[in-house]
Amino acid sequence: MSVKKTTKSAALPVTMRALQAQAFSLDGLQLVQRPVPQPRRGEILLRIRAASLNYRDLAVLTQNYYPTLATPFVPGSDACGEVVELGEGVDRWKIGDRVTPTYTQGWHDGLPTPEMRAKRTLGAPLEGVLQDYLVVPSEDVVAAPAGLTDAEASTLPIAGLTAWNALSEGGLKVGDTVLVQGTGGVALFALQFAKAAGATVIITSSSDEKLARAKALGADIGINYRTSADWPQAVKHVTGGRGVDIVVETGGSTLPQSLATVAFGGFVAVVGFVAGYEAKIGIRQLLAPMARVQGIAVGSRARFERMNHAIQIHGIKPILDRVFPLEHGAAAFNYLEGGAGHFGKVVVAL
Ligand SMILES: NC(=O)c1ccc[n+]([C@@H]2O[C@H](COP(=O)([O-])OP(=O)(O)OC[C@H]3O[C@@H](n4cnc5c(N)ncnc54)[C@H](OP(=O)(O)O)[C@@H]3O)[C@@H](O)[C@H]2O)c1
Repeated sequence: MSVKKTTKSAALPVTMRALQAQAFSLDGLQLVQRPVPQPRRGEILLRIRAASLNYRDLAVLTQNYYPTLATPFVPGSDACGEVVELGEGVDRWKIGDRVTPTYTQGWHDGLPTPEMRAKRTLGAPLEGVLQDYLVVPSEDVVAAPAGLTDAEASTLPIAGLTAWNALSEGGLKVGDTVLVQGTGGVALFALQFAKAAGATVIITSSSDEKLARAKALGADIGINYRTSADWPQAVKHVTGGRGVDIVVETGGSTLPQSLATVAFGGFVAVVGFVAGYEAKIGIRQLLAPMARVQGIAVGSRARFERMNHAIQIHGIKPILDRVFPLEHGAAAFNYLEGGAGHFGKVVVAL
């Protein structure tokens, strides 16, 4: 008796497009043809519909993130896709479901293992999402929120979840004051989630125009970190000297300044390193305010599902800057690298 091992939607192609890095540089990106992979037991095949770019993907491409990665590789960590084939034994999903893979595969709840953090992340060292089809374990995707487009949903696995996790770890409560650094992908999600939770949000940016746009999204106070020489002092001033309850620290080397803004018992979620990896802090900066500082690494599947529920309830829409077709994937990376330009997520449609 023959056993049907997989269930698939009609007529899948044999080959597909993939944006492959042939070398560690933006110029090394090339559109190539590869075989469409096949799901094994417990896995699903996704037709990727949209992939959103992260600062991390740029760092991977320029070999500043995952030094042991070898070329060629397919970059990209965040995506939304449609389930088109089920491996044997998969009953969690059906053909046609719209899902987003989790960035740290295998991390379902609580803390991940060091092995998951080091070896199970999409877009280095695992296969990236900038290709038409991708196989993932059926346990390592979540349903895309119904109200979001594919492009919007593709922004959630890293940028959305990191912001959600940072605020969750900080114990965000109604009435808290949150400081969000910059107007990048993580920062804008943090702004939206904090406002939905009833917090006051202070946001910093190098651009007054971006600050105005952040205010239109609900930010209460904007501070230009370029023109305001002592921006931590400005934060203290606008909080009546009290400081903020939670800082979403995306700068990295700006940690000493962030610590200068925290209220007594405040929390700094160390998320990023756009200003650099090194910082020198005075121990008194931790002791005096009894500050808590925690490194954030995206988030678990359980938190992802909770975040999606909140997105649904509050009608939160991810902020998109530009959508590029896959053929112009390299231009999308170049645009992201341009830095000061974008406000919201840069997405590649497939
Ligand atoms: N730990 C994690 O799990 C995790 C997850 C996601 C991202 N990250 C990291 O978090 C950081 C932000 O990621 P992203 O994807 O949101 O980046 P992004 O979209 O590229 O945004 C970067 C923004 O940072 C701001 N910025 C640049 N230099 C700055 C400085 N010196 N001080 C303060 N802000 C500065 C800029 O805002 P303005 O243009 O408004 O000035 C810029 O738009 C990156 O380092 C990324 O690798 C970490």
